[in-house]
Amino acid sequence: MLMQAIVQRKYGSPADLNLQQVEIPTLKPDQVLIRVVASAVNDFDLGILRGKPLFMRLYLGLRRPKVRIMGCEVAGVVEAVGKDVTRHQLGQSVYGDLSERGFGAFAEFVATHEDAVVPMPANLSFEQAAAIPHAAMLAMQSLIDIAAMAPGQTLLINGAGGGVGTLAVQLAKAKGVAATGVDNTAKQSYMRSIGFEHVIDYTVEDFTRSEKLYDLILDTKTTRSPFDYVRVLAPDGTYVTVGGSMPRVFQCVILSRWIKARKNRNIRMLALKPNKGLEYFTQLIEAGVIAPVIDSRFALKDVPDALRHFEAAAHQGKVVICVADMSKASAG
Ligand SMILES: NC(=O)c1ccc[n+]([C@@H]2O[C@H](COP(=O)([O-])OP(=O)(O)OC[C@H]3O[C@@H](n4cnc5c(N)ncnc54)[C@H](OP(=O)(O)O)[C@@H]3O)[C@@H](O)[C@H]2O)c1
Repeated sequence: MLMQAIVQRKYGSPADLNLQQVEIPTLKPDQVLIRVVASAVNDFDLGILRGKPLFMRLYLGLRRPKVRIMGCEVAGVVEAVGKDVTRHQLGQSVYGDLSERGFGAFAEFVATHEDAVVPMPANLSFEQAAAIPHAAMLAMQSLIDIAAMAPGQTLLINGAGGGVGTLAVQLAKAKGVAATGVDNTAKQSYMRSIGFEHVIDYTVEDFTRSEKLYDLILDTKTTRSPFDYVRVLAPDGTYVTVGGSMPRVFQCVILSRWIKARKNRNIRMLALKPNKGLEYFTQLIEAGVIAPVIDSRFALKDVPDALRHFEAAAHQGKVVICVADMSKASAG
C-alpha cells in the first residue's frame, strides 16, 4: 500500500524535498499506525534538512540523513495497532512529538511507538493539536520542571514570538507570573495580544543592559555570554536556554557551576524529554487555560514553502501542515 510523503534524500534546502509515493510503514508490535491529519514545522525539521549544526550529523547521519521523512509534531487518528499496544485503540484521535521516535509526520501515515502519542484534547481540531506537543513541552519543562516557576515571580522570554514563547506566556499567566517578551519590531503588538505584560524590541533595546531584574529568563535564541544574562537575573534567579547559538549554549553549560558558586544565579540548559507532561498540558487546554496560536497553514505538497516561511522567521505562532482533508481536520 502506498502513501504520499515529503521525502528528503540528501542534506540541502527546501528545494531538495519532493512529494513522493512511498510504502505505508509496516507496524512493529509496540507501534501504532497513525493516519496523519496535521503536523507542524519546527526548528528540528530545518536542522534535519540542512544537516546543521554539523555535529548533529553524528546523530542524523554523516553523509546523508537517516530520517527520510521529517515532521516531529503529529495529530491524527489511530489506524492500526501492533499486538503489544495497550494504551491506544483504533479510531482514537491522538497527538504527540515524534522527535525521539524517528519523525515521519510529513506523510499521510506514520508508524510510531505507542508512547509517542497521547489522546488529543477534546476541544481542539487536529490542526490546532498539531501546533502543541513539541513547543509546549519545551515551554513546560523549562518553566516548571527546571525553573520551578512560582506565582508572583517575574519572567522574561527571549525569542518570545515563536512557538515556545506563545505557549510559555500562557503557562506563566496561568501560574500568576508576569511575563516580558523580547522579539523583533513586527511582533510587538502580537506579543501583547497573547498576554505579555511588557514587550521589548531587540532591534532597538538590549534587555541585558537594562536595570530591571528578572526571577526567571527563558531563552529560545541564546546569542550572548551567560554573564550578560546574569546581569539581569535577580539573586538566586534562573536562566534556562532551550537553544540558540551552540557556542553560547556550551558556554552556559560549562560556566553554570562557577556562576552558581560565585554569583548565586542558576544557568540551566533544557534537554527536552518529548511528551513528558503532555497529558497534564492536555488538561490545561481542556480547562481553557491555554490555546494554540496558528500563524499559517500549508498543504502537505507545500511543505517546502512552509519551511521557507518558517526560516524567514516572520511567523507569529505555529506553522501548520494540513495533511488530510480539511473537513476531517476540523472534526476534533
Ligand atoms: N533543548 C532541547 O532539547 C531542544 C529540542 C528541540 C528544539 N530546541 C530549540 O528550541 C527552540 C525552539 O523555539 P521556537 O519553536 O519558539 O522557535 P521559533 O518559533 O523560531 O521562535 C523564535 C523567535 O525568536 C526570535 N528571534 C530571533 N533572533 C532573536 C534574537 N536575537 N533575540 C530575540 N528574539 C529573536 C524569532 O524572530 P525573528 O527571527 O523574526 O526575529 C522568533 O520569533 C530552538 O532554539 C530549538 O533549537 C531545543
